[in-house]
Amino acid sequence: MTAHRFMPAGPLTGRIRVPGDKSISHRALMFGALAAGRSRISGLLEGEDVLATAAALRAMGAVIGKDGEDWIVDGVGVGSLLQPERALDMGNSGTSTRLLMGLLASHGITATFTGDASLSKRPMGRVIDPLSTMGANFTPSLGGTLPLVMEGMQPAVPVTYRLPVASAQVKSAVLLAGLNTPGVTTVIEPVPTRDHTERMLRSFGVEVQVEDRDGERVIRVHGPCDLHPNDIVVPGDPSSAAFFAVAASIVPGSDLVIENVGLNPTRDGIYRALREMGANIEYLEEREVGGEPVADLCVRHARLKGIVVDPAIAPSMIDEFPVLFVAAAFAEGATVTSGLEELRVKESDRLSAMATALKSAGAQVEENGDGLIIEGNGGQPLSGGGTIVTHLDHRIAMSMAVAGLASEGGVEIDSTEPIGTSFPNFMDLLTEAAS
Ligand code: S3P
Repeated sequence: MTAHRFMPAGPLTGRIRVPGDKSISHRALMFGALAAGRSRISGLLEGEDVLATAAALRAMGAVIGKDGEDWIVDGVGVGSLLQPERALDMGNSGTSTRLLMGLLASHGITATFTGDASLSKRPMGRVIDPLSTMGANFTPSLGGTLPLVMEGMQPAVPVTYRLPVASAQVKSAVLLAGLNTPGVTTVIEPVPTRDHTERMLRSFGVEVQVEDRDGERVIRVHGPCDLHPNDIVVPGDPSSAAFFAVAASIVPGSDLVIENVGLNPTRDGIYRALREMGANIEYLEEREVGGEPVADLCVRHARLKGIVVDPAIAPSMIDEFPVLFVAAAFAEGATVTSGLEELRVKESDRLSAMATALKSAGAQVEENGDGLIIEGNGGQPLSGGGTIVTHLDHRIAMSMAVAGLASEGGVEIDSTEPIGTSFPNFMDLLTEAAS
């Protein structure tokens, strides 16, 4: 483990470009592998999570390589994935695991899924339940976790499934199983979650029907589906950009442009919340990249004020709460969050990890069952100090790195390695923007 102390920094200035969106990158590789023929992906995130997806797809017959900066996927076609010879190592990646479980559930394949210590604690029952109804068979570890063996069912049985938790991973797992299932597979979403699966499947030629019914989203695919090879451009990851947006907001004198940031309305909650707190974030050159809304963000230092975060916004910023908590620690007044039980089953228990981390850096935090209340210090530097335990969680590491930039004594994190799962050049970009 490589510990690192993030020291107080000068203003963040200039122009930076964050790597490709992680959610979109996973899907681009998976759908490329399901298309019969060659797809080209530009802007793919080359983080460990996405590389775990690529390795698993290769182990099942897809040919995946690079041509210059672009990634090339020679897909095998829906229904033609091969039996993997070895266990599929998912590393730290919940998205790889849950989406691939869905994809394989309707293939006649037996696969073993393994992961690191963090992933091996995360609940898989949420995908096992609907995929079992479709006919797949699972032998998980005690508690419904990895390591896990699954036997897919071909042909699988179509289902109508109402999501009991707001989860794009569960929604996507069922829809991906539906691609190779004869008949109509339906997912009902009481609360909208990120819709990259629906958008990208359409661009691969799949007819995805989405209907609003009594305030719920009803999503249908009619399988078996053919995916046509496709060229995909992956926009920059709004979740990665958020670390820099908060850093520039809290470090005095900052004036930073973050280029090419995806602003899909199911993902942009953090920017809406930061603006409500008084952040100075301007959207420049709004445009579309790869079927997703994108803009360059101009972020200047601002005096933030505490807010009550509406729990309804949570699904559109579910990964950004750790860094929002950091922003809250520098705001004037209290920021109150609730309805965030899901944060306890991410790469770490993010409510507990961030409460402990922020307190040890000098912030005032109260932890409740479903959220944190953070009493901001009105923009003064945090004292900094103690070593932060990251629990193999990239977003805890990067959030506390950001806190360190606006602290007196710096913030040490126990390990920078987790950052490589989603944002391999985070440290380089930080040095570039803060110098
Ligand atoms: C993701 C969905 C979210 C998110 C994760 C990526 C996806 O998880 O936290 O980082 O790509 O579908 P949940 O579906 O568990 O909310």
